[in-house]
Amino acid sequence: MNEQVDEQYWNFKKHALAGYNAGFRTYDQLYGEEQEKKYERCSRYLGEDADKTILDCGCGTGTLIRRLVRQRGFLVGVDYSKVMLGLAKKRVGTVRNVALVCADADSLPFKSETFDKVVSFTMLGNMPIVAMTIREMARVAKCRALILLSSVRKNIETGEVLASLRKASVRVKEFINDSVLNDWIAIGEKSSEHWN
Ligand SMILES: C[S@@+](CC[C@H](N)C(=O)[O-])C[C@H]1O[C@@H](n2cnc3c(N)ncnc32)[C@H](O)[C@@H]1O
Repeated sequence: MNEQVDEQYWNFKKHALAGYNAGFRTYDQLYGEEQEKKYERCSRYLGEDADKTILDCGCGTGTLIRRLVRQRGFLVGVDYSKVMLGLAKKRVGTVRNVALVCADADSLPFKSETFDKVVSFTMLGNMPIVAMTIREMARVAKCRALILLSSVRKNIETGEVLASLRKASVRVKEFINDSVLNDWIAIGEKSSEHWN
């Protein structure tokens, strides 16, 4: 990255984070119901994960994690906003099978091929280089792991996300573009082909 691009990249992220840091107190009230609808639409991909390791990237206030904790899997929530993550900690921070980590989705502090499932609801629109973030999420997913991503429709073109998934060796199984939801949702599987 040259200096100018680098500055734009970080400014974009800072701007997105500033919004969440300012509005975290009202996030659930304003968007909780909307997010629940998205989870509900994907419920067949989110259930029954006993003994699986799941990453929720951009977990926000932990609404999805709270929904999944009854399963016996191990859940890891990552968010770059300390205050959003603080609310998630209040909600699920003491649950035995949950870990919450403050980190940037472009630089996940995990070894490659760690997770059986990677989900990310409505975070990608906050990322300056979508292909880079998708690649990073695919890196930490095991081969054949399910990868589920959503973004507010107006923020990212579907063509861009499909091309980025293909480049990251993620085979798209279903693409939900339902006008009842504000987001498109892509469900894919990390290909077992060689990944670099
Ligand atoms: C629209 S909220 C979605 C939260 C949650 N996934 C949900 O379903 O309610 C987007 C989240 O992405 C987080 N986020 C923004 N930029 C991020 C980054 N660079 N790395 C990780 N998380 C980020 C925000 O702090 C916020 O919690």
